[in-house]
Amino acid sequence: MSDSDAPVFDEAHIGETPLVELDVDVPATVYAKVEWLNLYGAPYGGGSIKSRIAKGMLDGAEERGDLTPEKTVIEPTSGNTGSEIARLASARGYDVEIVMPDNASGGKIGAVEDAGAEIHFVDADLGYDAVIERCEELIAADPDRYYRPNQYENPDNPGTHERTTAPEIWDQTGGEVTHFVAGAGTGGTVTGTGRGLHERGDVTVVGFEPAEALHAIDGLKYLRTGDHYHPETYDESVLDERVYVGTDDAYDRARELRERYQDDEVPIVDTGQYDESTVRDELRVDGQFVVGTSSGGGVQAVHELHAESGLSADDTIVIVLCDRGDKYADIPLWEDYLASDAA
Ligand SMILES: Cc1ncc(COP(=O)(O)O)c(C=O)c1O
Repeated sequence: MSDSDAPVFDEAHIGETPLVELDVDVPATVYAKVEWLNLYGAPYGGGSIKSRIAKGMLDGAEERGDLTPEKTVIEPTSGNTGSEIARLASARGYDVEIVMPDNASGGKIGAVEDAGAEIHFVDADLGYDAVIERCEELIAADPDRYYRPNQYENPDNPGTHERTTAPEIWDQTGGEVTHFVAGAGTGGTVTGTGRGLHERGDVTVVGFEPAEALHAIDGLKYLRTGDHYHPETYDESVLDERVYVGTDDAYDRARELRERYQDDEVPIVDTGQYDESTVRDELRVDGQFVVGTSSGGGVQAVHELHAESGLSADDTIVIVLCDRGDKYADIPLWEDYLASDAA
């Protein structure tokens, strides 16, 4: 068991995240789930969409008896799943090892380190599949020592979204949601939430993926050609439509949102489990509305959807703001903005 003095995060602050309305230049209403309110109060840009599945996968493994106190939890991740597993598993008393590309953002690395987890860095130039392979090598060398939640294969990943994210979106929109749009990394968000929304009503589920193999949209996986590892958690039969998003467009959309809400408040549709002033404070970083890279991708995906299928004023679209932009202060998306605004 870990003797780290990592802070104990309140798992009650996972799920029931706020819904806000975004001004997107399409003829439809666009809402967004603000997932960085998960693990409210956590440093390094708060929690993320991955707080949900970290809890769901650890709960499932403990219930099944797959995860027992002497095990070390290990996971390959580009960052968000790693930080959330590190935070929750360390707080539950487990040793944790995280395998990450060496270009992961400083905020994500800091969150893993602060949780007291060990990090194995892999040369980012080798591609993301090399991160997964390194994790598999570590487990093969000492199989009894490790428990790997394996977000790429674990049914608790989409299952958590089916149980939590989908009913929240349905209830918060009063059943008016017509489209759900989410990016695919493991595909857990779009698969699980998509299934849960299909069970409830006539909702078009739209998955988006990076357009370029060498993209820089954090958390998303290039799957356009068949020579890449395809996550089992990504059930493409759930998708009604699929669009592709370029990195430059995703970054431009994120910057557009920041400019749009420079002076205006972001309208809050539902505060989730938080009070309104907490949500207002959490929506901004030093007064700026800065979202993460895949959130900008979500806005661009709505534009791509409109270009391909034509949206109307009757449509109500929900996208996901997976994490907050200050996690990306050291990458090209926000480094200039945050540096100059802080000055
Ligand atoms: C910031 C961010 N956005 C989107 C995703 C994709 O979510 P999913 O793995 O559920 O497809 C991830 C996954 O790591 C992420 O970290």
